[in-house]
Amino acid sequence: MSAAPSAAPQIIVLDAGGQYCHLEARRVRDLGVYAEVRASETPASELTFAKGLIISGGPSSVYDPGSPTVDPEIFAHGQPVLGLCYGQQLMAHLLGGKVIPGDKGEYGLATLELDEAADPMFRGLAGSQQIWMSHRDVVGSVPEGFSVVGRTDTCSIAAIADPARKLYALQFHPEVVHTTRGMEYLANFVFGVCGCVKDWDPRHRVPLIEQEIRDCVGNRSVFFFVSGGVDSSVAFTLCTRALGAERVRGVYVDTGLMREGETEFVSRFENVTVEHAEDEFLGALAGVTEPERKRHIIGEAFVGVQERIIDARHLLDERWILGQGTIYPDTIESGGTAKASVIKTHHNRVAGIQKLIECGRIVEPLKSFYKDEVREIGRELGLPAELLERHPFPGPGLAIRCLCSDHAAPLCKAPEGWIVPVKSVGVQGDARTYAPVLAIDALDHERATALANTLRGVNRVIAAAQSRVDISAMHVGAGSITSERLERLRCADAIVRRLCHETGYDKRVWQFPVILIPVGTAEYPDSIVLRPVDSVDGMTAQSVAMDADFLARMCDEILRVPGLAGVFYDLTNKPPGTIEWE
Ligand code: XMP
Repeated sequence: MSAAPSAAPQIIVLDAGGQYCHLEARRVRDLGVYAEVRASETPASELTFAKGLIISGGPSSVYDPGSPTVDPEIFAHGQPVLGLCYGQQLMAHLLGGKVIPGDKGEYGLATLELDEAADPMFRGLAGSQQIWMSHRDVVGSVPEGFSVVGRTDTCSIAAIADPARKLYALQFHPEVVHTTRGMEYLANFVFGVCGCVKDWDPRHRVPLIEQEIRDCVGNRSVFFFVSGGVDSSVAFTLCTRALGAERVRGVYVDTGLMREGETEFVSRFENVTVEHAEDEFLGALAGVTEPERKRHIIGEAFVGVQERIIDARHLLDERWILGQGTIYPDTIESGGTAKASVIKTHHNRVAGIQKLIECGRIVEPLKSFYKDEVREIGRELGLPAELLERHPFPGPGLAIRCLCSDHAAPLCKAPEGWIVPVKSVGVQGDARTYAPVLAIDALDHERATALANTLRGVNRVIAAAQSRVDISAMHVGAGSITSERLERLRCADAIVRRLCHETGYDKRVWQFPVILIPVGTAEYPDSIVLRPVDSVDGMTAQSVAMDADFLARMCDEILRVPGLAGVFYDLTNKPPGTIEWE
């Protein structure tokens, strides 16, 4: 059995489509009320313990075949239900109202006019207010028993209520910050309608988590593969506190694909040893250029090294149990609920480790917590801000930021700019799609967004920030991952990190990948792409504009790294461009 909080959730968010449901559950937790996410189709009989249900937003239309639904019984027994966006449409659809399929939809800010209402759900909220909309369909007529309490210029049914049955729904998203009074709607529902009490503060849960670790581990010892990231470091520290340092061991695998100073950073942890596997990883990647193949090889190499360590240290022996820094969204993305979209492969669910999981020999002290909550726990444990505020860094490391090409190719002039024939990943549709990149001549976010959304065959738009040679003289060169190219990338990444740290810029962006592309000349074969993004959870992201002087200073330093022809700036939002380039 792995460690989890013993408290039952008061609010259940029914997952009708991935990213929205997590933000909604997190916001409820921000109000101090424990909320969990469940599959939307969960039978009503399994939800009766909850004080209230939220049907999440989601990208589907109720008319799409196989679109998420809920058990209609949840509406029948007076249990409060709040439908949000798609959740509103689904509630209306299932209860006999009408949903009008839209073909264009409405995305962005709108002004809501909310009626005066005595009902606790809308108490204190009447009047004009800014909201954020993201929907295709709309509710055309409400089910019997419901009345319309809010509307916008373009959406005449934006808030509905059936107070007798405690059913409420909003077409807009109260969970996003752009809905200025969003938290008040959630608070009214959670406290006013559902009668929840505050029971959730991750910091106060530390003693409970420690007790759960002791219960789960018994008299065995815990073994971790640490990554230097926030989650595994906090989980490792919790286990060390709960069990004593002598019963907790960690190994950090140096893949040779890590950033500058990373191995030294991780070595500072007590009882963490470094397993050097640089040659193994770089050897396996030699000559490989296909992005998916690179990911696959890295995944396999990880499994190989992990299995070797498990074997050498006899970790399958009954005296050991595996510790992992799995957090709540990871468990969902790995199949915890049916509708969540898988955005990445999780190393903590690979086959070699599956065996330990299957026989219950695993402790995951953070598996009920969101990232921000893990940071709060880390602060409570006294871990340094330098560690807790680290930006996310992908498991496959610099390998997926070092783009490769199996052949040389020219850049092609197009009416909008230059088509750069590298393969960068995008999120159009379900699968990872690879497409070339468009380079435009100015750092113009607005134009880039318009082009990324309309141009076919391109999922990313960049602009040259500074270069040694004109783009017309550049071409794509053939190349895979080599120590020389990795070193170029590592140096440029270290410069960006140092400057961001010195100026506090790292606090203004959510993540700042630095990417090496094989674009340049014979003398300077590569270029750097800067990808500063803002995001809440990595599922969507906005390209962030940098101050011109700061950018110029950064480019000057980067271009001193040998072999670099230019520095480009990625102007693409996600969607359509993922945060990483592979
Ligand atoms: P994308 O590129 O999908 O990234 O927009 C979203 C977030 O996930 C991180 N990411 C990964 N993390 N292994 C990881 O551990 C991976 O293979 C991987 N790919 C992307 C990315 O850095 C961003 O924070």
